[in-house]
Amino acid sequence: MRFLLIFAVITGLGIGADAETKCEKEPFGKVGGEAVDLYTMTNDKGLVVKVTNYGGIVVSFIVPNRDGKMDDIVLGYNDVDSYVKNNPYFGAIIGRYGNRIGKAKFSLNGKEYKLIANDGENSLHGGKKGFDKVIWDAKEVNNKDAVGVEFSYLSKDGEQGYPGNLKTTVAYWLTNDNEFKIEYTATTDKPTIINLTHHSYWNLAGEGFDILDHELTINADKYTPVDKGLIPTGKLLTVEGTPMDFRKLTAIGSRIDNDFEQLKLGKGYDHNWVLKQKKEGEMTLAAILYDPKSGRLMNVTTTEPGIQFYSGNFLDGTITGKSGKPYKFRTGLCLETQHFPDSPNKPNFPSVVLKPGEIYKTTTIYKFSVKR
Ligand code: GLA
Repeated sequence: MRFLLIFAVITGLGIGADAETKCEKEPFGKVGGEAVDLYTMTNDKGLVVKVTNYGGIVVSFIVPNRDGKMDDIVLGYNDVDSYVKNNPYFGAIIGRYGNRIGKAKFSLNGKEYKLIANDGENSLHGGKKGFDKVIWDAKEVNNKDAVGVEFSYLSKDGEQGYPGNLKTTVAYWLTNDNEFKIEYTATTDKPTIINLTHHSYWNLAGEGFDILDHELTINADKYTPVDKGLIPTGKLLTVEGTPMDFRKLTAIGSRIDNDFEQLKLGKGYDHNWVLKQKKEGEMTLAAILYDPKSGRLMNVTTTEPGIQFYSGNFLDGTITGKSGKPYKFRTGLCLETQHFPDSPNKPNFPSVVLKPGEIYKTTTIYKFSVKR
């Protein structure tokens, strides 16, 4: 064991390099009378990720810091009832449409579809009862280098206003390479729109601290500016010379309160960046998040063309999390890989239309390491 520990520290893998790769299932309570489960995935480096089939929520995510100390680096609750009562999308699968659709409507093939407005006049994260609030079917999956859970859900034609019976599968994999890999697939029986994403609130220092000292890189020269309802204007603007420039690792807090209109509108960062993809749908680096205190580093790669960086500006201390600490302003941040917000109403944005016979397939990987 001592040898393994030394080996793990030297190679930067953290502790527990001799842990067993496994997935365990236990009851996690009931939602509307239906039992839901908690799945605990462990990889051979000792990383532990807990997920539930209620909303596909990542409940906890335990990784080592540079000294091998394990901490939970996502915000959330210990029990499913708290998620049901009040969840600002902690850890959840977001669908059918991640982020906002302006005025809660869109047209497809000449027909207008009305969605449920749940964010002023706009529709946010799939409407009133999005994929974060449904119970998913779950199946444990594994291969020689990873364990996982595959969630599936049939969203009926007309659900929350969206057309088509949409069959969705979201697989979460924890690999022995310290990757948390999410694979999304979907098919439909009528033309529809789709934009799935993941909404963990990360805090690499450990849940309960603020995130302003975290340093961030976003692989983007442009972002999509928004109006006061946080709906993109349709323009793609350069990040050059603005607080939106994260092309080099930069502390999140260093410019967040600058007198810059977009930051005022978002109460901080709450924007979509246009990723520098070589080829459409090709796995590309999206972001790097680093916490200098703990040494934890998270690398985000994706097939998606955009990423929403949300700096936890709606957290206000009224929620008390897993460790009993209140989640104050900007104590967690989201890096949501996605197609751009309001794409159905922005013909110049990459298309989010899914037709019968096509397969929607996207992948995002959050990879963990430490830096000394
Ligand atoms: C997304 C949105 C934010 C906010 C959070 C959830 O990141 O862009 O404006 O709605 O989700 O609170």
